[in-house]
Amino acid sequence: RPDLTGRHFLKEADFTAEEFRGLVGLAAELKAAKKAGTEPQYLRGKNVALIFEKSSTRTRCSFEVAAADQGASTTYLDPSGSHIGKKESSKDTARVLGRMFDAIEFRGDAQDTVETLAEHAGVPVYNGLTDDWHPTQMLADVLTMTEHSDKPLTDMVFAYLGDARFNMGNSYLVTGALLGMDVRIVAPRSYWPADEVVAKARELAAGSGARITLTESVEEGVAGADFVVTDVWVSMGEPEEVWDERIKSLTPYAVTMDVLRATGNADVKFLHCLPAFHDLGTKVGREIHAKYGLESLEVTDEVFESAHSVVFDEAENRMHTIKAVMVATLGQK
Ligand code: CP
Ligand code: NVA
Repeated sequence: RPDLTGRHFLKEADFTAEEFRGLVGLAAELKAAKKAGTEPQYLRGKNVALIFEKSSTRTRCSFEVAAADQGASTTYLDPSGSHIGKKESSKDTARVLGRMFDAIEFRGDAQDTVETLAEHAGVPVYNGLTDDWHPTQMLADVLTMTEHSDKPLTDMVFAYLGDARFNMGNSYLVTGALLGMDVRIVAPRSYWPADEVVAKARELAAGSGARITLTESVEEGVAGADFVVTDVWVSMGEPEEVWDERIKSLTPYAVTMDVLRATGNADVKFLHCLPAFHDLGTKVGREIHAKYGLESLEVTDEVFESAHSVVFDEAENRMHTIKAVMVATLGQK
């Protein structure tokens, strides 16, 4: 079990592969215990603040359910519900909340904000998604991969298709590199992660034995993949105007049955952090359908609803892995 007492959880590269795998292992242990009805409570009496500057279904609910299972309580601060970033700085907010809470979760735009909170809170701070990284999602995805493959992580191949310049693309590249996996980033060159992210991944790969491929070719990128993954083409906080360009550039990278067939692996699995535009039946989806006449965006409904898709295992695993982060860092054994 990893002893990460007092540590923050801000980005993947802050951890060794052993620590990261330890968190995934702890999550698997806590998941099995919950299902068996034998879950021990390590967080009794703890209080966790949840700051959300952006919306969330999975991350918020994961923190709340995980804390409740473990005997801790949470306070949810919604995008308009606190002074942070408006009347009060991140630094002051950190020093106030750090006096009341045992840990603080933050979701918002800037990685700088969560880093500032961590610097001044005096208690563990968790990144619940920023523009740059989505590290709790990576724990859930790695747990899901281990549940759906007999291979060791170092033999697993995964291909990420879509906008790789943002949180999900960055996190997949660095996590795969850290853990020694075979990572393929499959996107138009202008959608590849920033040079410094690629450099960090190459540095980690040199130590872990990871294989890193950045390619514009779907065929090359997905060949032999155990997992095909994607994310929305327009992320939270981005302006409406980017839709035209995203649809034009990324439509060839949508995950279809043909893409899954191109892996050559009949047992390939599909992952998506969600929410997903697999059908356009939602409010935003209907607007896109009306404007562009499309039936789906980054993944077809056929793939999403197929036996290849493990997206709801992945969503459930958000809760078990976030629980592991809190248990490992709040250190009550
Ligand atoms: N995947 C994910 O982070 O989902 P939410 O935005 O619902 O938290
Ligand atoms: N890239 C997406 C991920 C959502 C979980 C976003 O930032 O909106």
